[in-house]
Amino acid sequence: MAQVETPHFDSEPPAFGHEMRKCFSFDPDYINMNHGSYGSLPSPVAEAIKPYYAMAEANPDLFHRFTSIDIIRDVRKRMAKFIGAAHTDEVVFVPNASHGLNNILRDITWEEGDMLCSCNTTYNSISKTAEYISDIPPYPENPQFTIIFPTTRSEIIANWRSYLQSLNQTRAISAGKLGRRPKIVAVIDSIISVPGALLPWQEMVKICKEEDVWSVVDAAHSIGQELDLNLAEADPDFWVTNCHKWLFAKRSCALLYVPRRNQLILKASFPTSRAYISPKQRNGSNFVEQFEWNGTMDFVPYISASCALDFRAWLGGEHVINAYCHRIAIEGGKRLAQILGTEVIDQEQDFQFTLNMVNVAVPFPPTISSDFAIDMAFRQKLLIKKKIYPAFFYHNGKWWTRCSAQVWSQVEDFEILGEAMLEACKEIIEEFGDGSEEKPKTSMEDTIEKLAKTELNDQKVFLFK
Ligand SMILES: Cc1ncc(COP(=O)(O)O)c(C=O)c1O
Repeated sequence: MAQVETPHFDSEPPAFGHEMRKCFSFDPDYINMNHGSYGSLPSPVAEAIKPYYAMAEANPDLFHRFTSIDIIRDVRKRMAKFIGAAHTDEVVFVPNASHGLNNILRDITWEEGDMLCSCNTTYNSISKTAEYISDIPPYPENPQFTIIFPTTRSEIIANWRSYLQSLNQTRAISAGKLGRRPKIVAVIDSIISVPGALLPWQEMVKICKEEDVWSVVDAAHSIGQELDLNLAEADPDFWVTNCHKWLFAKRSCALLYVPRRNQLILKASFPTSRAYISPKQRNGSNFVEQFEWNGTMDFVPYISASCALDFRAWLGGEHVINAYCHRIAIEGGKRLAQILGTEVIDQEQDFQFTLNMVNVAVPFPPTISSDFAIDMAFRQKLLIKKKIYPAFFYHNGKWWTRCSAQVWSQVEDFEILGEAMLEACKEIIEEFGDGSEEKPKTSMEDTIEKLAKTELNDQKVFLFK
């Protein structure tokens, strides 16, 4: 069987911090403080996957019909072990978290009276997926659980339990009318996108079981950031993680975990595979076969997950990497809050929600409300002009920034960001007003128009993430 071969990392790795930039291909003038959105491919991983691209082109038939399938089976085995799945055949690759979560949510057989519960902090497009599903027959309800920061883990857990109990009361009323018990499916983030916050997702999954609710865990940010994953123990009904974020795989690499007991619930891969067998004719699951081939695509990113694990082992392994990133997130977050004269979202709670992403309040007057144009202005002023960029979001009546700490980060980056943000915020208040009076032109169209007229109009403006 073909094995994944990555170059031996026999030299000493660079030190964590700016030295580590040697292992990445960043523009030397750019300070990447938003690893959380798109991930970043280490150059040793980019090197390690080159031979697979060569193989794919040397003999496309051989690569796609034999070699890549064998290699990806080996990688799946390694990844299943890494996330603590009980069986390798419970884990398949999908291109990204959106793909995996859409596959699950759209493939569930929805019936009248069912409920698909999401959260106010569910990732935007996944919450839209839930809304879309509730907009089409048989129109499952889309109730929303609310999490407002600052809060505590125990408060979230208690609220989650009472929320699911209230959904169960609604279900009992529907069951009386329908003559059958509708199902409840809950989408839970392991680590919320914005605010970047680790949720007590294992406890939330456990409560789902107690309340007879299916759990679909959006773990887009988990692998590579959350230590010692043990899916067999956490036992969610479905779980999806992006390897191209914190694990350092090439983009378009995610894992979909479906325990054996649920593999018949997921009737088909999306796109439908030639391996699809109608549930009427199927005896047993062919989950893996369906996901092994469901359309021609670049399969090398899946192989890159294994190369990423080798790279991470070379850096010192998961605990060493994450201890560094976590320390920088906390120290950097505090320093940024000090420069901005604001606060970190969970400082008072002892950083219980913080792994490697830290959320710091933006120094705006409270009158400045949620407006896409403000987000766009930050992109223009920081990403394009100042070449430093964290994510921005509006939560609980305030603007916040979410900064990612990575192996190349230093507290100094947060200091540079702080100075750049002070300037950007001042300009934004001047341009947009402080929100206390009738706003000048701040619609998305006006902002885009304004950006198009800047000296940087050759830069593409991305409207997402
Ligand atoms: C929590 C969460 N879920 C899902 C996604 C979607 O990931 P992708 O764009 O790779 O599908 C993201 C992306 O940032 C995310 O943060």
